[in-house]
Amino acid sequence: MSAPGARPRLVLGIETSCDETAAAVVAYDGERYRVLSSVVSSQIDLHARFGGVVPEVASRAHLEAIVPVVQAALTRAGCGGADVDAIAVTRGPGLIGALLVGVSAAKGLALVWGKPLVGVNHLEAHLFAPLLEAPDLRYPLVVLLVSGGHTLLVAMQGPGRYRMLGQTLDDAAGEAFDKVARFLGLGYPGGPVVDRLSAEGDPKAIALPRALRGDSLDFSFSGLKTAVINHVRAHPDVATADVCASFQEAVVDVLVRKSRRAAREVGAVGLSLAGGVAANSRLRQRWREASAEDGLTALLAERENCTDNAAMIAAAGAWRLEHDGAADLDMGADPGLGLF
Ligand code: KG4
Ligand code: ZN
Repeated sequence: MSAPGARPRLVLGIETSCDETAAAVVAYDGERYRVLSSVVSSQIDLHARFGGVVPEVASRAHLEAIVPVVQAALTRAGCGGADVDAIAVTRGPGLIGALLVGVSAAKGLALVWGKPLVGVNHLEAHLFAPLLEAPDLRYPLVVLLVSGGHTLLVAMQGPGRYRMLGQTLDDAAGEAFDKVARFLGLGYPGGPVVDRLSAEGDPKAIALPRALRGDSLDFSFSGLKTAVINHVRAHPDVATADVCASFQEAVVDVLVRKSRRAAREVGAVGLSLAGGVAANSRLRQRWREASAEDGLTALLAERENCTDNAAMIAAAGAWRLEHDGAADLDMGADPGLGLF
């Protein structure tokens, strides 16, 4: 921990694991974080016509965007390389070509500026996003990490102290949103558009299954996805907004129910929501309601900090630097890096 009253460390975060090129400057005083800048350049338009992320297209787009994005983050934070205390970069999991762009850029800056380099686990960084805005942090927390590639229920005793409680056995929650949206012809990524259309639909219009799997804290979404597809094939005139609202309600229902049960089992004092799907309006609403009913603190990041960004990378990197020290300059990217 930094000494009380010490100047906060300024950490430049860099994220290129998938389809967002992002850089941010975060100040960390050993306890709290302050986001000085956070710049995200999205490649969504480039990938949308392919219906998903094309790895080679992503790598090239990162290469083009990385320098201007880092420059913009420094300018907006009002600092230069000399003011930065460390450079944190996502080293996995993600697409190897995409990760290598960020890792190479971070190494170059660390070498030129003579600053420490920190490798960050993208999944751990998502766990840090809700902490960016939490004034008083108390543990244990139960964190639901729901993104395009992962659905994890985690007991968090503190930064760096995680225990897995449950995970998806098939599709990730975000993947289910994306697949249902693709089937409905709504484009990529599916989560935001399903979220938007659901506001005009009836969540009770279609009875869809909830895969609760008894007392298990694991998830399964592929049966729900198939049920949606079968229903639409059998009823081609069904309103798309009703399909979206009913599907979204089924996903949110399972996510909230299992997270509440996990909080009871762990004796958690707070329920934290992380990952891209944490931007979902209905999930955020139900998360707040459930937390209030159960006497738990609801921790939710701002929407722009839920989807991929570099503020969370800088935050996790600042903490990791204090606890594990800097990485060597021969650090590699690890596309299969896990949280446990
Ligand atoms: O964390 P993230 O930005 O990238 C990964 O690390 O995967 O998550 C992206 C996922 C996508 O599947 C996207 O459809 C979903 O988050 N997502 C949403 C919403 N915004 C993004 N899902 C539901 N509702 C949203 N509003
Ligand atoms: Zn992510």
